[in-house]
Amino acid sequence: MAYLKPDKPEKVYVPALRAAKERGEKLVCLTAYDYPTARIVDEAGVDMILVGDSMGNVIHGYGNTIPVSLEEILSATKAVKRGSSRALIIADMPYGSYHTGDNRAVRNALKLMKYGGAEAIKLEGGRNRVDLVRRLVNEEIPVMAHIGLTPQSVHKLGGYRVQGKTTEAAKILIEDAKRLEDAGAFAVVLELVPREIAEIVTNELTISTIGIGAGSACDAQVLVLHDLIGFTFGRQPRFVRQYANVSGVITEAITKWMDDVRTGEYPAEAESYALPEDVDLEKAKSVLEPF
Ligand code: KIV
Repeated sequence: MAYLKPDKPEKVYVPALRAAKERGEKLVCLTAYDYPTARIVDEAGVDMILVGDSMGNVIHGYGNTIPVSLEEILSATKAVKRGSSRALIIADMPYGSYHTGDNRAVRNALKLMKYGGAEAIKLEGGRNRVDLVRRLVNEEIPVMAHIGLTPQSVHKLGGYRVQGKTTEAAKILIEDAKRLEDAGAFAVVLELVPREIAEIVTNELTISTIGIGAGSACDAQVLVLHDLIGFTFGRQPRFVRQYANVSGVITEAITKWMDDVRTGEYPAEAESYALPEDVDLEKAKSVLEPF
């Protein structure tokens, strides 16, 4: 059964990923954290929307993903859900929400699904998360795994670097991917991984690989929308291709508006409201008499 037909925008559910992989069809995933962005991303035809903890860098200005809270992800997921109708909605489990016991992790994941409207969750980690992934899947929670560069480990890793750069590290990555598939994950994000390793993982797994800085062999690609559209600050990683300059567009609009206000060009008469004929302004002004 075909789940995805580009000419017929059916709602994307988890099984669509495997069906697309079997057909050799590439899928696309973008981040969104609010209603208008979700609407634009969904209406553009993106297959998956990730309510990523990258919101910590991109919209909250925390500098990394560590401070992002479950409440922030939950609130964003609700808004994204309201703004989308076709894409699969995946909510990121933020740092701390799945680290202090499996029961608590299940409870937090259920909150994202039950109250946020998430249709799947994503969490970071390899072999250390296999038991948890199995437990979540047993509780009917679809899990997207995330290995390679895992930004929630930034302090342990000492920065954002390409992973899998030794034979041993490559073996661990490949084995972790296999173990996560075996535990029931429906997809695995490969972040900042050499393309040859991503290709091996993609060929060896029946579940989908979602690449970010992992080359073109992956079954799907994911990017942080703000990077793609040029709505971020600072240097971008090599894998980001910037398709627009939204920061520039916003600055230009603000600058023009400020000029128009300062020169009296804005607002024009057509941008304001005329007084109805039956209003007697002299009478209205009489309230000023006591002053
Ligand atoms: O939080 C996020 O946006 C992510 C993607 C970069 C995969 O985890």
